[in-house]
Amino acid sequence: MERLDKIISNLGYGSRKEVKSLVKKGFVEVDGEIVKDSNMKIDPDTSIIKVNGEELYYREYIYLMMNKPDGVISATYDNRDMTVIDLLHVDYQAFEPFPVGRLDKDTVGLLLLTNDGELNHRLISPKWHVDKVYFAKIDKKVTEEDVKAFKEGITLDDGYVCKEAKLEILSATDEGSEINVTIQEGKFHQVKRMFEARDKKVVYLQRIEFGGLPLDRDLEEGEYRELTDEEIEHLKKF
Ligand code: URA
Repeated sequence: MERLDKIISNLGYGSRKEVKSLVKKGFVEVDGEIVKDSNMKIDPDTSIIKVNGEELYYREYIYLMMNKPDGVISATYDNRDMTVIDLLHVDYQAFEPFPVGRLDKDTVGLLLLTNDGELNHRLISPKWHVDKVYFAKIDKKVTEEDVKAFKEGITLDDGYVCKEAKLEILSATDEGSEINVTIQEGKFHQVKRMFEARDKKVVYLQRIEFGGLPLDRDLEEGEYRELTDEEIEHLKKF
């Protein structure tokens, strides 16, 4: 059971105060009856709520896939820069979603956002071996020795030995290379630091897959969409 004003407000119909005023004015119906008490407690899973005649589609959790643009922070709040939450419509912000793991400010590509804390925890915990695939441009020629070193486990600058990573060379010349790399961990700046350990620099980094979900190529950078039921079920299998 939850308070009526909280349910309606969480669905993006305005602040609690605004919702209270809607209720007072008789715009809100619960199970076919106009209600005037916004403090009333109802079960949102079984009651039919209408605001101004429009039935509310109640849900507790939202799951979004964003194509994160360059220059935006993967956090819920930042006092200087724009965050991925700032890019969301207020109707989605009302659910108070947060990014699942982090991408660097200059990394682009697939970022999941949800307010489902339990799923978030499972997806970022190293215990569940969630593959993350990145496409990267590297400043030098990536070689088969690099592929071998990634497979054996790169030692980062702080002494941490990474788990096996799959490095795939898409093109390699003395002017630079393009690669895909699959990792399961999510250490701070991990891909960049793995290449630094090989004396190479990542000049462009894009996440193209997360937990078996590919980046939706119809999403322009900065755009997002809700995950489908199948995609959510897939993630919940971890
Ligand atoms: N590895 C990085 O170096 N940066 C990211 O944003 C993600 C993985």
